[in-house]
Amino acid sequence: MNSRPLSDRSPTPFLWGVSTSAYQIEGAAHEDGRGLSIWDTYSRLPGKIAGGDTGDIACDHYHRYREDVALMQKLGIGAYRFSVAWPRVLPEGRGAANEAGLAFYDRLIDALIESGVEPWLCLYHWDLPQALQDKGGWTNRDCANWFADYASLIARRYGDRVKRFATFNEPSVFTLFGYCLGGQAPGIVDRAMLLRAIHHVNLGHGAAVDRLRAAVADASLGAVHNCQPCRPATDKAEDRAAADLFDAYWNGAFPDPQLRGIYPPAFAEAMAPHLQPDDLAMICRPVDWFGLNHYSPHYVVASDRNPLGVWFGPAPADVPRSSMGWPVEPQAFREILTNMHKRYGLPIYVTENGTAFADQPLPNGEVPDAPRISYLQAYTGAMFDAIADGVDVRGYFVWSLLDNFEWGSGYSQRFGLVYVDYPTLRRLPKASFHWYADLITSHSASAVPTV
Ligand code: FCB
Repeated sequence: MNSRPLSDRSPTPFLWGVSTSAYQIEGAAHEDGRGLSIWDTYSRLPGKIAGGDTGDIACDHYHRYREDVALMQKLGIGAYRFSVAWPRVLPEGRGAANEAGLAFYDRLIDALIESGVEPWLCLYHWDLPQALQDKGGWTNRDCANWFADYASLIARRYGDRVKRFATFNEPSVFTLFGYCLGGQAPGIVDRAMLLRAIHHVNLGHGAAVDRLRAAVADASLGAVHNCQPCRPATDKAEDRAAADLFDAYWNGAFPDPQLRGIYPPAFAEAMAPHLQPDDLAMICRPVDWFGLNHYSPHYVVASDRNPLGVWFGPAPADVPRSSMGWPVEPQAFREILTNMHKRYGLPIYVTENGTAFADQPLPNGEVPDAPRISYLQAYTGAMFDAIADGVDVRGYFVWSLLDNFEWGSGYSQRFGLVYVDYPTLRRLPKASFHWYADLITSHSASAVPTV
C-alpha cells in the first residue's frame, strides 16, 4: 500500500458522505398514512429475523432527523445518501400520494440543504409496497411502470432541490436473496421468478432514468451496485464454474444490460423468454455515474441448496472477519474498483463501504471502535491506491451514519459511526465518527491551494 498520507493522495474535489436507507432507520412504520412494505411483512414471519426484530421503530429517524442531520454537519460530510420509502409516499404503491409522507422528505431535504449537506436520493432500497407485492411485485412486468410513475412523483416533488438520484440500491442483492437464495423479502425461492424480477427491475431502471431526466433538467443519475469479486472457495472444477456463474449474476445482471445493453452470456439464453423486442434499448439509458457498494469478496461453492446451484464457502483461514463473518480484504476493493472502471468506464462513487463490530459504550458515553477505524483506514487506502492506478473515483460514502436494522440480522449487527442505544434511542458518536471527521477535515485542508 502507498505510504503517503491519504490527504496527499485524494483528488480534488472529492466527495465524502454517509449512506442510510429508509426501512433500516426511519421507524414510524404505522404513522402518518404510511403503507406496508414487503419488509414489514417479511420481518413478521417467524424465524426470519434475528431476535424477531422489525423496523417498526428502528432508529426513529422519522422523528429525530434533525438530530441526525446535526450529526452529519458535525461530521463535516458533503453528501448524504438516503432512500425514500415508496409505501410512505404511495401507500398502495400507485394511485393516491400521501401528503404527510411526502412532507417528511421535504423537511429532511430542507434540513440537509440548510446544513450544507447535499441530498443524494435513492428511489428504492428494498421496501416494495406490499400492495404491489400482492400483485406479483417485481415478477409482474407492470411493476416497472409502477416504479416509473413513483419516480415521476419524486422528481416533480423534490427535483427543485435534489439533483442526485439513484434508481435502485443493490438490485443483485435484493433479487438474488429475495427470489432465489432465500433470506430476504419477499422470500421467494424460484429461478424463473428470479429471472423475471431481474428483468423487470432493469426495465424499471431504464424507465425511471427517462422520467427523472424529463422532470429534472440538471439531474445527475446513477444506479447503485453491490460489487464483490466472486472467487471459487476451492480448486474443484465445479466450484470454479459456480464462482463464474455467480459472478455473472452478482456483478453483471444489472450493470451489463443497463450500461452495455446485454445480459451476461452465462444466463442470456435463460433470460430470452422474458424479453420483448426493444427491452434492452429501454433498459440501456445514459447515466452519469456508477454507484459501487463493496464490503468483501465472495468465496463460492457449487451447492444444491437452492435453484441457482451456488452457495457461500469459507474464506481462507488466515483472512480476518467482521462480526458479520465477512472477510476483511482491502485488496479486493482495489481489484473490484479497477475491474468495474475498466468494464463500464463511468465515474465511480463508492456509495457504501463499512463494517460491523460488536461495539460497547463505556460508562462515560465514549464508544471505542478501533477495528472499524482500521477497516476504514485500510479500505480508503485501497481506494486511493486504485485512484493512483487511474480509476476515476469521485466520492466515498460510509455505511452507515447510525447503527440500524440490519435486515436478517435485526439489531444484532452495528455498522454505524454513531452508536444507537435502542432502549433510549440515544445517539453516541463512536471513535470512528471522530476519525472520519478528521479525515474529511484533513482532506479539505489539503485541498486549499498553497500559493
Ligand atoms: C448492503 C445494503 C445495506 C446494508 C449493508 C451492510 O448490502 O445495501 O442496506 O445492509 O449491506
